[in-house]
Amino acid sequence: MIQFVIFFIWLAVDFKLVLNSPTLGSKDNPRLLSKGIIYGGFEYPVYQKHSVFFYHEDSEEMYVGGTNFVLKLDVEGSHIMENFSLKAPDQQHCQDGQCENVITVIEKFQDSMFVCGTNGNKPQCWKLFSSVNNQSLEIVDSYEGMGISPFVYTHNAISLTVEGDLYSAAPLDTDGSSLQFRRKAGSRTNVWMYDNWISEPTFISATWVEQREEPDNEKIYIFFREKNSDHNPEADPLISRIARVCKVDEGGSKRFFQNMWTSFLKARLVCGFPEKSLYFNHLRDIFVVHAKDWVDTRVYGLFTSSWNATAVCIYTIGKIEDVFENSTFKGYNKNIPKPRPGTCVKNSRNLPLATVNMVKDYPEMNDWVESIHQTAPFYVSSNNYTKIAVDRVQAADGCMHNILLLATDSGKIHKVLEAGEEPFIISETQLSSHSTVQSMKLDSKKKKLVVGFSEKISIIDLQRCQEYNQSCADCVLARDPYCVWTEFGCTPTVTGGIQNILDGNRSVCQPSDEEQKQVNRTKRETDSSSTVDLGTAHSVPLSVPFYLSCPIDSYHAVYTWEHTGQSSPCLQMQSNCLHLIPAMTQENYGGYECVSKERDYTKVVKTYQLKQQTIQDTNRNTDGSNGNLIIQSASAVVPQITWITLTLAVTVSGIFR
Ligand SMILES: *[C@@H]1O[C@H](CO)[C@@H](O)[C@H](O)[C@H]1NC(C)=O
Ligand SMILES: *[C@@H]1O[C@H](CO)[C@@H](O)[C@H](O)[C@H]1NC(C)=O
Ligand SMILES: *[C@@H]1O[C@H](CO)[C@@H](O)[C@H](O)[C@H]1NC(C)=O
Ligand SMILES: *[C@@H]1O[C@H](CO)[C@@H](O)[C@H](O)[C@H]1NC(C)=O
Ligand SMILES: *[C@@H]1O[C@H](CO)[C@@H](O)[C@H](O)[C@H]1NC(C)=O
Ligand SMILES: *[C@@H]1O[C@H](CO)[C@@H](O)[C@H](O)[C@H]1NC(C)=O
Ligand SMILES: *[C@@H]1O[C@H](CO)[C@@H](O)[C@H](O)[C@H]1NC(C)=O
Ligand SMILES: *[C@@H]1O[C@H](CO)[C@@H](O)[C@H](O)[C@H]1NC(C)=O
Repeated sequence: MIQFVIFFIWLAVDFKLVLNSPTLGSKDNPRLLSKGIIYGGFEYPVYQKHSVFFYHEDSEEMYVGGTNFVLKLDVEGSHIMENFSLKAPDQQHCQDGQCENVITVIEKFQDSMFVCGTNGNKPQCWKLFSSVNNQSLEIVDSYEGMGISPFVYTHNAISLTVEGDLYSAAPLDTDGSSLQFRRKAGSRTNVWMYDNWISEPTFISATWVEQREEPDNEKIYIFFREKNSDHNPEADPLISRIARVCKVDEGGSKRFFQNMWTSFLKARLVCGFPEKSLYFNHLRDIFVVHAKDWVDTRVYGLFTSSWNATAVCIYTIGKIEDVFENSTFKGYNKNIPKPRPGTCVKNSRNLPLATVNMVKDYPEMNDWVESIHQTAPFYVSSNNYTKIAVDRVQAADGCMHNILLLATDSGKIHKVLEAGEEPFIISETQLSSHSTVQSMKLDSKKKKLVVGFSEKISIIDLQRCQEYNQSCADCVLARDPYCVWTEFGCTPTVTGGIQNILDGNRSVCQPSDEEQKQVNRTKRETDSSSTVDLGTAHSVPLSVPFYLSCPIDSYHAVYTWEHTGQSSPCLQMQSNCLHLIPAMTQENYGGYECVSKERDYTKVVKTYQLKQQTIQDTNRNTDGSNGNLIIQSASAVVPQITWITLTLAVTVSGIFR
């Protein structure tokens, strides 16, 4: 047992052990683990239990709200431009732990920054203005923040600004209950929801979809989950929803439904396998990709299920509108009044009573909003994803591709290509070893992803093409629309570069000298026992156990060890492929090649030469350049006990996977 522990420590150092590294050869895993990653970033002096960002693509600064402060940072996140203190006043009268002001909302609102916080259990908002001559922030106004910020940072809240109006949902009670989606401030009337419309909701997101030709028809869409009214024991206790209201809705007349949404409608947002009645009912995050023609705007929903799997479903506003405009109403089978409930009208106060009454009592659609793939989610995974962002990337041929950026609960980011109906998991980047992503913002113009953790803010460069720079084939097989092969190697995408996003077939590459050389060498190797000294040379005595190691470049590839025309499978140890020799015999000496095969691309990753160690052979390990890949201690002799534990560890790590 002790040996095992010691061995494990040794192995951890030697292999930079990452638990749960992907299994080789499975397309469900990321193809590549990203290494040199971070573009910029910022570490907090104190851990933040909650943080919010404001980041705008066209701006050169970002705002971060933590506990008792708002920071203004440069876009690289490396330089604090200002640390603005926003403490809760009246520190004497609040109870322990409630005296702090946890910032929960930062929005650009009417030319100022609009910041709200828990303010010692008395939600408050401040308008911060950054004067032109003096860069420092100052408070120009302050408001009561109930209904915009929660009382406690762990409670649910969302906010949205549209044309100088602020929409928000936050609890009206200190216990986190009585959540409402309302228009709360701005030039238009304040409007709120009728209590019976929803039950114990958790709001996820709200978005505004512009219609340039018909601005009065524009809607605000609200995404949330709520308690399922179906109390059947088989039914999931939760249900995911999309609702919408008209931007121009000013509420009902003085006599009826004053300051209530007269256009509110809701529908079930489904993600799952309808034929098997298997649904992902727990909506977790939403990302909206706006399109030139508003009907093509896509909504990406991230869901989880009661069986702990996550799924991504994709919807279009066109199909969503079809449900709201054409479905019948749940629980209602009489004639639908005119105008149809949910229709946007210039003056909602003049709507006929029958229409408003129906919105009040029957706001739910019979039809469900289904994903564009209908029979199955676009992507199902056992990873516990918590956040999603989606970038539109122009490939070398001018075609647009969607890239999903998914954050796991264990500090990883997965970059996933939406390749038609199939996901292709390009890479995994581990950003934090110990915390969950608190917030995530995509900068599509600068091609960066800003990710907030409790201890830091990390910024990922999405165009890290040097990772696929070994050859044209490596660059093309990555299927990364951010990267192309050019005369300068694998570089950020330029038109005319070599790329094959559609299927990653490397036939688009010219066979380069480098690859040709490899083919020639492999041929020679297999033709006869080679006399050419290739790769790292090692002198090993007879009868000792020994192992060879080779780094894994692609988890979609299959790795084998080739030796004297024979091929043996590779034993995966985290991010390395091993070949174990229990005891050196005469047959074990000679050349070894670690060969990877991905699709029709065969690559010699690493070569070794094992020579018999003789007494005179003192000048061992002359090469030495690959010191970390082969055990150097005891002149490459592995004690028997280590070898046994190594075998054990490989087995154990296999079991854990
Ligand atoms: C901002 O200033 C406050 C003191 O006013 C300090 O406690 C906090 O750590 C500072 N935050 C950062 C990120 O430097
Ligand atoms: C800028 O703001 C700081 C802090 O509020 C203040 O000390 C300083 O005098 C101001 N400078 C000018 C030029 O207004
Ligand atoms: C899902 O995860 C939760 C929390 O980790 C656990 O309590 C529950 O048993 C899991 N359910 C299934 C079906 O695995
Ligand atoms: C409603 O249905 C009609 C008839 O099928 C169709 O022409 C119309 O486009 C639908 N409305 C929406 C918003 O899709
Ligand atoms: C997934 O992550 C969320 C957020 O960190 C956590 O609350 C939940 O328990 C996790 N689920 C599982 C099955 O681990
Ligand atoms: C990529 O490889 C090319 C040669 O093929 C080299 O000139 C270039 O410097 C490399 N780029 C990076 C970022 O390593
Ligand atoms: C790649 O494309 C070539 C030429 O179009 C074709 O012959 C080959 O079968 C393809 N390979 C794979 C793995 O799809
Ligand atoms: C590989 O072998 C071919 C003939 O089989 C030869 O024409 C070519 O020059 C060789 N390439 C290299 C880089 O040695």
